[in-house]
Amino acid sequence: MPEPALPQPGLRQLYSQQQIAARVQELGSQVTRDFAGQTLVLLGVLKGACVFLADLARAIRLDATFDFLAVASYGQGTYSSGEVRLTKDVDESLQDRNVILVEDILDTGLTLSYLRTVVLAHHPRVFKIAALLDKPDRRRVPISADYVGFTIPDQFVVGYGMDCAERYRNLTGIYLLGE
Ligand code: IMP
Ligand code: MG
Repeated sequence: MPEPALPQPGLRQLYSQQQIAARVQELGSQVTRDFAGQTLVLLGVLKGACVFLADLARAIRLDATFDFLAVASYGQGTYSSGEVRLTKDVDESLQDRNVILVEDILDTGLTLSYLRTVVLAHHPRVFKIAALLDKPDRRRVPISADYVGFTIPDQFVVGYGMDCAERYRNLTGIYLLGE
């Protein structure tokens, strides 16, 4: 399927829809093997992880439910200030559940380390992190994801759920945002 017309021709494709789909299928198979015979809560971080969660969930052949967390960062522009605040907590109990926190990008790690504390306070049985993209060069706190789609250098990306000032989330591929 072709991309919708872009208002900004300066976007450069990093991963195509097909490349993402293939990788997400692999991650789904891995999760299915790791949690064979068990139930799962897929806990998405709004809004960036929605598209990834929707595809990953359908690549997992297990009894899985969805829940969502939302955070707001006090920063503006393309990078977060690192000061994060929870704006939506989970709806269902995570006590003794297998929880996979699903995030779009693991960047400085500040958001995910904050969310890890939030989720662990709900006393899950197992806690794992799935990040579609990992930018290890940007890390400021020690945290890693258990399931990573692609490891990328320190470049700002949009599409497949990821935004710049709320735009580009509906692009089917992942793009580098030019200066
Ligand atoms: P962290 O707290 O620095 O790890 O920030 C993670 C969050 O920053 C992600 O959930 C994204 O919302 C956002 N972010 C970091 N890098 C990018 C990017 O390249 N494009 C879009 N959003 C990004
Ligand atoms: Mg985000």
